[in-house]
Amino acid sequence: MADLWQNAMDHGVALARRAGEVVREALLTDREVMTKSCSVDLVTQTDQKVEQLIIQSVREKYPTHRFIGEESVAAGEACVLTDEPTWIIDPIDGTTNFVHAFPFVAISIGFSVKKQIEFGVVYSCLEDKMFTARRGKGAFCNGEAIQVSGQTDVHQSIIATEFGSSRETDVVDKIFSSLRKVLCIPVHGVRGAGTAAINMCLVACGSVEAYYETGLHVWDIAAGAVIVTEAGGVLLDTEGGALDLMSRRIVAANSRIIAERIVKEIDPFSPTRDDAPPTL
Ligand code: IPD
Repeated sequence: MADLWQNAMDHGVALARRAGEVVREALLTDREVMTKSCSVDLVTQTDQKVEQLIIQSVREKYPTHRFIGEESVAAGEACVLTDEPTWIIDPIDGTTNFVHAFPFVAISIGFSVKKQIEFGVVYSCLEDKMFTARRGKGAFCNGEAIQVSGQTDVHQSIIATEFGSSRETDVVDKIFSSLRKVLCIPVHGVRGAGTAAINMCLVACGSVEAYYETGLHVWDIAAGAVIVTEAGGVLLDTEGGALDLMSRRIVAANSRIIAERIVKEIDPFSPTRDDAPPTL
């Protein structure tokens, strides 16, 4: 089995690279923008094209494997994580960045077996940085081992977060209240790359001490989750319990000390779970 997953990861890396070429080419042409759940939840033909490219190629090689893909779920497919080998794909993490040519865009591919992430591939394709990790085997960027920062003083830290795509007043109020409290700990700064996957890689390589967000999805964080833990980091739910990949809430940090300190400042809320049955 071990070698099989290594082969699968190698295939994931090759596909992420190919997908990155498609994204880079698309940036040079017109990007036709469509919307999904609301006017600021964007999608382009490139998101759909890249997801199809990845799924088709994996299906040819691994016909029994399952998929959770951002655009397939948007098109009505179920978002259920089973014990079966499952590829969890965000074809473009940072679609809004892509639309505006803001230069952080990632292809994110996580792979789970028995609901545990076995490997993760995040290709920051405009920076040409390939982040990879396999459970128990360390985390890497372009083949070099990476590690979280050793900083345990939150006052000396940079924290990453995002505003997400909800514009509902009560959600925005909670996001700003948490942001205000985190900023005023005080921390050195708050940043956001505009993609959950890259924010998690920034934790993994020690550029920020923590990243938190509520409202993202399993495909945004599946690959990054194993990259963070293999780089020595910690994952928590925003209320301090164990991370639940389907709950749409995450704190990823360099250490338990920093993760728990950030949890204290977050006003938690619970968006509809990714695996909730569709409403009629
Ligand atoms: C989004 C990005 C963004 C985060 C959102 C995600 P997408 O993913 O990761 O940083 O704030 O919650 O949905 O839509 O660009 O794949």
